[in-house]
Amino acid sequence: MEKERAYGTGMWAWLLQRITGFLLVIYLFMHVAWVHGINTPFNFLFVPTATAFFILLLLAVPHALNGFRVFTLDFGIKERAQKILFWVLMLIGVLVIILSYRSRFGG
Ligand code: HEM
Repeated sequence: MEKERAYGTGMWAWLLQRITGFLLVIYLFMHVAWVHGINTPFNFLFVPTATAFFILLLLAVPHALNGFRVFTLDFGIKERAQKILFWVLMLIGVLVIILSYRSRFGG
């Protein structure tokens, strides 16, 4: 039987999904408030600035890509393959964030 590790890649992947998932829910509520003209300290997130765009990319892209990796767990992929997939997807995520940001705001 394989040794279980408490602080491996899987734990960081899980934590990433939790934190980004939680912040996306908060973002969603703040967005609904903004749409209805309610002022919150987060209104700056919904004007088309580079910062707002970057924050949303930073939350949504890793969550969506890691979410895809979580789907693959149901197909019984091996631990090593899970780890490789995680880092490959995160690398793709970094590229997606940079390219999306540059195509929107240049630089
Ligand atoms: C492409 C879009 C998305 C995909 C593929 C996706 C995928 C997933 C998956 C597979 C999980 C389960 C993680 C696990 O069981 O370990 C998850 C968790 C979660 N997602 Fe998403 N998600 C997406 C978008 C969103 C959005 C837009 C929100 C919020 C508005 C959100 C909020 C959450 C929350 C709160 C959790 C629970 C985290 C936890 O308890 O660990 N997700 N997501």
